[in-house]
Amino acid sequence: MFWYDKDNPLVDFMDIRREECILSDGQLCIVNPNIIGDFTNMDFPDKSYKMVVWDPPHLVYAGKTSNLYKLFGKLDDWRNDLKKGFEECMRVLDDYGVLIFKWSDHQLKVKTVIQAIGHVPLFGHKTSRHTIWMAFMKLPDETGLPV
Ligand SMILES: C[S@@+](CC[C@H](N)C(=O)[O-])C[C@H]1O[C@@H](n2cnc3c(N)ncnc32)[C@H](O)[C@@H]1O
Repeated sequence: MFWYDKDNPLVDFMDIRREECILSDGQLCIVNPNIIGDFTNMDFPDKSYKMVVWDPPHLVYAGKTSNLYKLFGKLDDWRNDLKKGFEECMRVLDDYGVLIFKWSDHQLKVKTVIQAIGHVPLFGHKTSRHTIWMAFMKLPDETGLPV
């Protein structure tokens, strides 16, 4: 949902599911990654990415028919899922690569999540009910892609 170019050829979009569902207002929700995979056990070699954008489910309680569940899913074993997911993101990152981690503290506070992960970020929102962040990457001229 948050990608400006959902077909960006430089991105491997990964999710654990591919599905379409109807939200309560009749809107269609389409989850259509180009790779099906589990962030706790990714099928990528070590150090294979310069940047990882990790946006795991932030809910631990959500009714299976709710819009939030349909859109974002939920964590079953949140401590373990987030710890293993973080370790996997770090494993697939190249040296000096960047991990962008998105969180929304509706149900679990950022502080609690950082404790569970066991690593302190360089910077980020310390609290928020609405997460907003942006990242830009300057690409070399020869790629012919806009910067
Ligand atoms: C907050 S949403 C991500 C939304 C996404 N950033 C976007 O722009 O559309 C969280 C997603 O994580 C997926 N997910 C849940 N558990 C996962 C796992 N173990 N591995 C990979 N994806 C998982 C859910 O299916 C859900 O689509």
